[in-house]
Amino acid sequence: MVAAIIGGTGVYAIEGLDLTRQTIDTPYGAISIERNDDLVFLNRHGPDHSTPPHKVNYRANIKALEQLGVKRICATFAVGSINTEFALKTPVILDDFIDYSSGREHTFFDVLDNGVGDVDVSMPFCPVLGDALEKEVQAIGLPVQRGGVYASTNGPRFETPAEIRAYRMMGADVVGMTLCPELPLALEAGMSYAGLAFSINWGAGMTPTIELVSDDIDQIKTDMLRAMINTLAKTRDQDCTPARIL
Ligand code: HPA
Repeated sequence: MVAAIIGGTGVYAIEGLDLTRQTIDTPYGAISIERNDDLVFLNRHGPDHSTPPHKVNYRANIKALEQLGVKRICATFAVGSINTEFALKTPVILDDFIDYSSGREHTFFDVLDNGVGDVDVSMPFCPVLGDALEKEVQAIGLPVQRGGVYASTNGPRFETPAEIRAYRMMGADVVGMTLCPELPLALEAGMSYAGLAFSINWGAGMTPTIELVSDDIDQIKTDMLRAMINTLAKTRDQDCTPARIL
């Protein structure tokens, strides 16, 4: 069964795998991916990061993966930490989200050809993939935070300090601009999804100005990719229960 890795900011290639680049045509537009028989890789912003978060063609990305038979996804996110207990650069295995994005094409269920449905997001992230990912990240020797709530904002601007305080009060741990609608679309398409976030800054207002960290980042990204490749290989025959469509 084919699995996929979706790379976020800074993750544009998987070194050491023999992948072939292909263009996949979908009803929502064409998407450039790389693949072998088992794995598909795409960067959600495009291979050269030419698309900002609010302009990403999320439906075409997920539809391309669906057309290739993908059932399981591991995705990376560069985020800001808004919880002082979530250290910078420590990978977080996400377990929930709050969607503050707007104006994005966020569902497949808007034309009758696709049917009409309401996806149950009571358990948005797949615990089977999450368990495996936790083991694989630990095996590589990285610290890992199991569980974290992602506040998905619209961008491309960063947040105000008041927004960050509000998101924190509402229960979010990290903030980023791309989880939604990518994850809900993947669930609508019957896929299981794990999200691995790593914080590259403290949220607005937590430091006098937003400072992006850059040291050690390349090694962390390489390690996270390795953990995701191992996770997808080892869970190949495990049952992931897709979200229900009600
Ligand atoms: N806010 C929103 N998105 C982000 C941030 C942030 O602080 N850092 C990285 N992506």
